[in-house]
Amino acid sequence: MTPLLSITGLTIRSGDTPLVQDLSLGVGPRERVGLIGESGSGKSLTALAIAGLLPAGIRAEGSVRLAGEEVVGAPDRRLDALRGSAVALVFQEPLTALDPLMRVGRQVALPLARRSRRDGALLRGHALDRAVEELFAEVALPEPGRIARAYPHELSGGQRQRVAIAMALACRPDLLIADEPTTALDVTTQGEVLALLDRLVAERGMALLFIGHDLAVVAQAVDRLVVLQRGIAVEAGPTAEVLGAPRHPYTQSLVAAARRFDAALGPLA
Ligand SMILES: Nc1ncnc2c1ncn2[C@@H]1O[C@H](COP(=O)(O)OP(=O)(O)O)[C@@H](O)[C@H]1O
Ligand SMILES: [Mg+2]
Repeated sequence: MTPLLSITGLTIRSGDTPLVQDLSLGVGPRERVGLIGESGSGKSLTALAIAGLLPAGIRAEGSVRLAGEEVVGAPDRRLDALRGSAVALVFQEPLTALDPLMRVGRQVALPLARRSRRDGALLRGHALDRAVEELFAEVALPEPGRIARAYPHELSGGQRQRVAIAMALACRPDLLIADEPTTALDVTTQGEVLALLDRLVAERGMALLFIGHDLAVVAQAVDRLVVLQRGIAVEAGPTAEVLGAPRHPYTQSLVAAARRFDAALGPLA
C-alpha cells in the first residue's frame, strides 16, 4: 500500500536547537494514526511541518512525502495545491482557523468553491450556499442556514470547532490532521466532536493523524500510536499493543496515568 504520508528522518530545528529529532512515521490510505506526547514534545511542529506551515525561523530537514510529493523545501505554489487537496488541518483552538470579521458560511464557501473549480465543476451562487449548508448539516450543526450567517463570536466553542472541521472537509482532503481538536472543549462537547470526527473519517474514507496529550482520548480514535517525548519517538505500535504492553518508561507512565484517571469510568479504549 502506498502511504499517503511518509515521514522519514524528520528533524525540526530552531537555530541549532532540535525540537523534533529523526522522526519517521507513515500513514496509509484510511489509516488512523495517533501522535501522543506531553505539552512541548513537538506534536504541533510535526503537524505544521507536514503541511509546510512551519513558522519563520523554524527549519525542517529530512523528508515528508504527501501523496508522493516532497513537502520539505517545496515552493509555496506546490504546498498550496497539496494543502487544498491532500491534507487539511484542524487545530486545538478553532478561532485560529476562523476570520473573526467574516460570516462563517462565507469562510467555508471559499475552500468549497476552490475545490470545485479544481475538480472542474464550478460551484457558485445558490448552489454554493446550498453546498455550505449541506456541509454544516454533515458536521451536525443545528440550523445550518442561520449558522452560515453568523460570525465566529456568535457561536459556542463546540460549534466553532464544527465549522473549522467543515472548512477542513471542504478541501476533500485524503488526510485529515487533527491537532488536539477537543482539548479546548468541555468534556461533553469533547465526546461529541470525537464521535463526529470518527464518523466523518469513516464516511469520507479519509486517513487521520490525530494529535493529543491525553492518551485516553487519542487511543479511542486511532489504530496505531506513535509516542513522542521531547521531540523523539520513543515507541510506536498498534494501539492495543501499546496500551496493553507499553515498553518505554515514558509510555508506561502515560498508560498508568490514563488508567488511574479512567478507573472510575471503565476500561481504557
Ligand atoms: N516558533 C517557535 N520558535 C521556537 N520554538 C518553538 C516555536 N514553536 C514551538 N517551539 C518549541 O518547540 C517545542 C515543541 O513545540 P510544539 O510542537 O508546539 O509542542 P506540542 O504541540 O507537543 O505541545 C516546544 O519546546 C516549543 O517551545
Ligand atoms: Mg501542540
